[in-house]
Amino acid sequence: MAEKVILDVDTGSDDAIAIATAFLSPDIDLLAVCTVNGNRSVEITTSNTLRLLEYLGADVPVYRGCHLPMVASLTPGRRKHVPFTGPDNKEEDVHGDYLPLPEPTRKAQPEHAVVWLVDKLKNSKEKITLIFVGPLTNLAMALRIDPDIVKNIKQVIIMGGGYLVNNITAGAEFNFWIDPEAAKIVADCGAPLVIVPLDATHAAYVTMEEAEEFINLGTPGSVISGKLIKQRIAGYNAFQPMAVPNAAPIHDALAVCALIDREVLRSCMTVNMDVSIAHGITDGMSLFDTGGRDRNRKPNAIVAKDADREKFVGMMKEILGRKN
Ligand code: BDR
Ligand code: CA
Repeated sequence: MAEKVILDVDTGSDDAIAIATAFLSPDIDLLAVCTVNGNRSVEITTSNTLRLLEYLGADVPVYRGCHLPMVASLTPGRRKHVPFTGPDNKEEDVHGDYLPLPEPTRKAQPEHAVVWLVDKLKNSKEKITLIFVGPLTNLAMALRIDPDIVKNIKQVIIMGGGYLVNNITAGAEFNFWIDPEAAKIVADCGAPLVIVPLDATHAAYVTMEEAEEFINLGTPGSVISGKLIKQRIAGYNAFQPMAVPNAAPIHDALAVCALIDREVLRSCMTVNMDVSIAHGITDGMSLFDTGGRDRNRKPNAIVAKDADREKFVGMMKEILGRKN
């Protein structure tokens, strides 16, 4: 039976591919997509999410979420600026502002994502899997409103953090760095966590030739994904070249594939993960206690240090090549 899933995104080029993968996979019953500030303002990430779903002919409700991190933007100098956009945004070419799709005719649902999440999780008769591929603000806010919702969370699959690889500072990954307090609240919430960090997503890079193959599959999901992968590769070539030239990670789609087939993740360790809220140079850094040094913190997460690239690309082709 298909797994019931709530997906939380900051769409975003790789978020868009993650949404398409989740919607088109027969193994996932996509209950709703929640949006958050991150790659762009929540206005833009919500519009992009609606654009993508409408293009796919997907009748999935969208709930607009938080427009700022919990507290990170209150301290002067702690963040360049939030929402994270503008001419000095190195990732600009990786995401762009709006997806290259028509403006949506549908609107987001009237309830706020956090209010809906609390209600949905509180009243659910079964446990629900959450996949979070943006800053964790919405889930942390929901947990602060009602910590009991954790009982109905089957697992949280999170694209975030880095073991040896980071991307926004020397020590931090973008999603955790945007809202470190939210990431820490989720790390400590008690729900089973599966962490898909940059080490895994960078191992599962996609090449320019493969992007072309996606486009040649000719379905709505594969065509938009192939185009967005090309856009990402151009951005990576310009601003953060990969060890393999003409290739880019599709971070958020790997988190979705990790639910569909856990074997796509490799070198998984069960450890305690904590997140630095120390401001300064370690702000938003993920810490993995591989030696079990902190006796007060028990293992709370399965963390992937690697991924099966061939399997990932194969899964993506099979799923995105499907018609709605
Ligand atoms: C994460 O940051 C965002 O730019 C991507 O969408 C992904 O979720 C990678 O660090
Ligand atoms: Ca994202």
